[in-house]
Amino acid sequence: MRTLVVYESMFGSTRLVAEAIARGAADAGEAQALPVARADAEDLTGYDLVVVGGPTHLHGMSRPSSRRGAEQTAAKPGADETLEPGATETGVREWLSTLPSVHGRAAAFDTRRHAPALLTGRASNGIGKGLRHRGYDLVAESESFLVDKKSCLEPGEEARAEQWGRALAGTR
Ligand SMILES: Cc1cc2nc3c(=O)[nH]c(=O)nc-3n(C[C@H](O)[C@H](O)[C@H](O)COP(=O)(O)O)c2cc1C
Repeated sequence: MRTLVVYESMFGSTRLVAEAIARGAADAGEAQALPVARADAEDLTGYDLVVVGGPTHLHGMSRPSSRRGAEQTAAKPGADETLEPGATETGVREWLSTLPSVHGRAAAFDTRRHAPALLTGRASNGIGKGLRHRGYDLVAESESFLVDKKSCLEPGEEARAEQWGRALAGTR
Protein backbone atom coordinates (compact mmCIF):
# COMPACT_ATOMS: atom_id res chain seq x y z
CA MET A 1 0.00 0.00 0.00
CA ARG A 2 1.48 3.37 -1.07
CA THR A 3 -0.17 6.54 0.24
CA LEU A 4 0.56 10.14 -0.75
CA VAL A 5 -0.79 13.02 1.34
CA VAL A 6 -0.72 16.31 -0.61
CA TYR A 7 -1.28 19.38 1.54
CA GLU A 8 -1.42 23.15 1.48
CA SER A 9 -0.65 25.06 4.68
CA MET A 10 -0.18 28.73 5.49
CA PHE A 11 0.68 28.56 9.21
CA GLY A 12 1.60 24.89 9.70
CA SER A 13 -1.56 23.32 11.12
CA THR A 14 -2.62 21.55 7.91
CA ARG A 15 0.98 20.33 7.55
CA LEU A 16 0.82 18.81 11.04
CA VAL A 17 -2.47 17.10 10.13
CA ALA A 18 -1.02 15.84 6.81
CA GLU A 19 2.05 14.45 8.57
CA ALA A 20 -0.16 12.75 11.18
CA ILE A 21 -2.34 11.19 8.45
CA ALA A 22 0.83 9.89 6.74
CA ARG A 23 2.08 8.42 10.06
CA GLY A 24 -1.22 6.59 10.49
CA ALA A 25 -1.27 5.37 6.88
CA ALA A 26 2.31 4.14 7.24
CA ASP A 27 0.95 1.29 9.37
CA ALA A 28 -0.35 -0.22 6.11
CA GLY A 29 2.79 0.41 4.01
CA GLU A 30 4.64 3.36 2.57
CA ALA A 31 3.25 6.87 3.17
CA GLN A 32 4.54 10.41 2.76
CA ALA A 33 3.21 13.94 3.12
CA LEU A 34 4.15 16.40 0.37
CA PRO A 35 3.49 20.17 0.17
CA VAL A 36 1.33 21.03 -2.84
CA ALA A 37 4.06 23.30 -4.25
CA ARG A 38 6.18 20.16 -4.76
CA ALA A 39 3.38 17.84 -5.91
CA ASP A 40 3.50 18.74 -9.63
CA ALA A 41 6.53 16.55 -10.22
CA GLU A 42 4.87 13.53 -8.57
CA ASP A 43 3.46 10.64 -10.67
CA LEU A 44 0.18 9.99 -8.88
CA THR A 45 -0.41 6.73 -10.74
CA GLY A 46 2.25 5.16 -8.50
CA TYR A 47 0.03 5.51 -5.41
CA ASP A 48 -2.82 3.32 -4.14
CA LEU A 49 -4.31 6.21 -2.17
CA VAL A 50 -4.03 9.99 -2.57
CA VAL A 51 -5.18 12.16 0.36
CA VAL A 52 -5.51 15.89 -0.29
CA GLY A 53 -6.07 18.69 2.22
CA GLY A 54 -5.85 22.41 2.79
CA PRO A 55 -6.95 25.21 5.09
CA THR A 56 -10.46 26.62 4.81
CA HIS A 57 -10.30 30.22 3.57
CA LEU A 58 -13.44 32.31 3.08
CA HIS A 59 -15.62 29.17 3.39
CA GLY A 60 -13.73 27.15 0.77
CA MET A 61 -10.33 26.40 -0.74
CA SER A 62 -7.75 29.19 -0.61
CA ARG A 63 -7.22 31.58 -3.52
CA PRO A 64 -4.20 33.79 -4.30
CA SER A 65 -6.00 36.73 -2.60
CA SER A 66 -6.77 34.79 0.60
CA ARG A 67 -3.19 33.49 0.71
CA ARG A 68 -2.03 37.11 0.55
CA GLY A 69 -4.44 37.75 3.45
CA ALA A 70 -2.72 34.98 5.41
CA GLU A 71 0.66 36.51 4.59
CA GLN A 72 -0.54 39.88 5.92
CA THR A 73 -1.83 38.24 9.11
CA ALA A 74 1.59 36.69 9.76
CA ALA A 75 3.34 40.00 9.00
CA LYS A 76 1.40 41.96 11.64
CA PRO A 77 3.57 43.09 14.58
CA GLY A 78 3.29 40.56 17.43
CA ALA A 79 1.43 38.00 15.27
CA ASP A 80 1.35 34.46 16.67
CA GLU A 81 1.17 32.98 13.16
CA THR A 82 4.34 32.14 11.20
CA LEU A 83 4.14 31.59 7.46
CA GLU A 84 5.24 28.17 6.17
CA PRO A 85 8.06 28.20 3.56
CA GLY A 86 6.57 28.63 0.05
CA ALA A 87 3.06 29.00 1.50
CA THR A 88 1.86 31.62 -0.96
CA GLU A 89 3.27 29.96 -4.11
CA THR A 90 0.28 27.83 -5.05
CA GLY A 91 -2.70 26.09 -3.54
CA VAL A 92 -4.70 22.89 -3.75
CA ARG A 93 -7.34 24.65 -5.91
CA GLU A 94 -4.75 25.47 -8.61
CA TRP A 95 -3.09 22.04 -8.34
CA LEU A 96 -6.42 20.20 -8.72
CA SER A 97 -7.24 22.22 -11.84
CA THR A 98 -4.09 20.96 -13.58
CA LEU A 99 -4.32 17.34 -12.41
CA PRO A 100 -4.58 14.80 -15.24
CA SER A 101 -7.66 12.57 -15.23
CA VAL A 102 -6.90 9.24 -13.57
CA HIS A 103 -8.67 6.33 -11.95
CA GLY A 104 -7.64 6.03 -8.36
CA ARG A 105 -8.65 6.10 -4.71
CA ALA A 106 -8.60 9.33 -2.76
CA ALA A 107 -9.85 11.24 0.27
CA ALA A 108 -10.15 14.93 1.16
CA PHE A 109 -9.61 16.84 4.39
CA ASP A 110 -9.34 20.40 5.60
CA THR A 111 -8.56 22.46 8.65
CA ARG A 112 -11.11 25.00 9.78
CA ARG A 113 -12.22 26.97 12.80
CA HIS A 114 -13.90 25.21 15.71
CA ALA A 115 -17.53 26.14 14.98
CA PRO A 116 -20.44 24.55 13.07
CA ALA A 117 -19.46 23.82 9.44
CA LEU A 118 -22.47 25.81 8.25
CA LEU A 119 -20.78 28.92 9.64
CA THR A 120 -17.14 28.14 8.81
CA GLY A 121 -17.46 26.42 5.43
CA ARG A 122 -15.20 23.49 4.57
CA ALA A 123 -12.39 23.46 2.01
CA SER A 124 -12.71 19.67 1.85
CA ASN A 125 -16.07 19.96 0.06
CA GLY A 126 -14.37 21.59 -2.93
CA ILE A 127 -11.31 19.34 -2.69
CA GLY A 128 -13.51 16.23 -2.74
CA LYS A 129 -15.47 17.54 -5.73
CA GLY A 130 -12.23 18.35 -7.55
CA LEU A 131 -10.87 14.85 -6.92
CA ARG A 132 -14.08 13.20 -8.14
CA HIS A 133 -14.04 15.44 -11.21
CA ARG A 134 -10.55 14.11 -12.04
CA GLY A 135 -11.76 10.52 -11.85
CA TYR A 136 -10.92 9.59 -8.27
CA ASP A 137 -13.22 7.46 -6.12
CA LEU A 138 -13.50 8.90 -2.63
CA VAL A 139 -12.94 6.10 -0.12
CA ALA A 140 -14.29 8.06 2.87
CA GLU A 141 -16.36 11.07 3.83
CA SER A 142 -14.28 14.24 3.76
CA GLU A 143 -12.93 15.15 7.20
CA SER A 144 -12.25 18.44 8.99
CA PHE A 145 -9.64 19.01 11.68
CA LEU A 146 -10.24 21.97 13.95
CA VAL A 147 -8.10 24.97 14.82
CA ASP A 148 -8.48 27.80 17.34
CA LYS A 149 -8.63 31.53 16.62
CA LYS A 150 -4.84 31.64 16.25
CA SER A 151 -4.98 28.81 13.67
CA CYS A 152 -3.38 26.32 16.12
CA LEU A 153 -4.77 22.79 16.13
CA GLU A 154 -7.18 22.02 18.95
CA PRO A 155 -5.94 19.39 21.44
CA GLY A 156 -6.34 15.84 20.19
CA GLU A 157 -6.67 16.75 16.51
CA GLU A 158 -3.26 15.37 15.50
CA ALA A 159 -4.08 12.05 17.17
CA ARG A 160 -7.46 12.00 15.42
CA ALA A 161 -5.73 12.69 12.08
CA GLU A 162 -3.32 9.79 12.67
CA GLN A 163 -6.24 7.50 13.41
CA TRP A 164 -8.07 8.73 10.28
CA GLY A 165 -4.98 8.00 8.16
CA ARG A 166 -4.74 4.51 9.65
CA ALA A 167 -8.41 3.85 8.89
CA LEU A 168 -8.14 5.22 5.33
CA ALA A 169 -5.13 3.11 4.46
CA GLY A 170 -6.90 0.08 5.90
CA THR A 171 -9.86 0.44 3.51
CA ARG A 172 -9.58 -1.71 0.39
C1 LIG B 1 -7.61 34.69 4.73
C2 LIG B 1 -8.18 33.67 5.67
C3 LIG B 1 -9.51 33.30 5.60
C4 LIG B 1 -10.04 32.34 6.48
N1 LIG B 1 -11.37 31.97 6.35
C5 LIG B 1 -11.84 30.98 7.14
C6 LIG B 1 -13.19 30.50 6.97
O1 LIG B 1 -13.95 30.97 6.13
N2 LIG B 1 -13.61 29.48 7.77
C7 LIG B 1 -12.79 28.92 8.72
O2 LIG B 1 -13.23 28.01 9.42
N3 LIG B 1 -11.52 29.34 8.91
C8 LIG B 1 -11.03 30.34 8.13
N4 LIG B 1 -9.74 30.76 8.29
C9 LIG B 1 -8.89 30.09 9.29
C10 LIG B 1 -8.12 28.96 8.60
O3 LIG B 1 -8.97 27.89 8.32
C11 LIG B 1 -6.93 28.53 9.46
O4 LIG B 1 -6.02 29.61 9.43
C12 LIG B 1 -6.30 27.27 8.93
O5 LIG B 1 -7.12 26.16 9.12
C13 LIG B 1 -4.97 27.00 9.58
O6 LIG B 1 -4.32 26.04 8.79
P1 LIG B 1 -2.83 26.30 8.26
O7 LIG B 1 -2.03 26.60 9.50
O8 LIG B 1 -2.43 25.04 7.63
O9 LIG B 1 -2.86 27.45 7.30
C14 LIG B 1 -9.21 31.74 7.44
C15 LIG B 1 -7.86 32.11 7.52
C16 LIG B 1 -7.34 33.06 6.65
C17 LIG B 1 -5.88 33.42 6.73
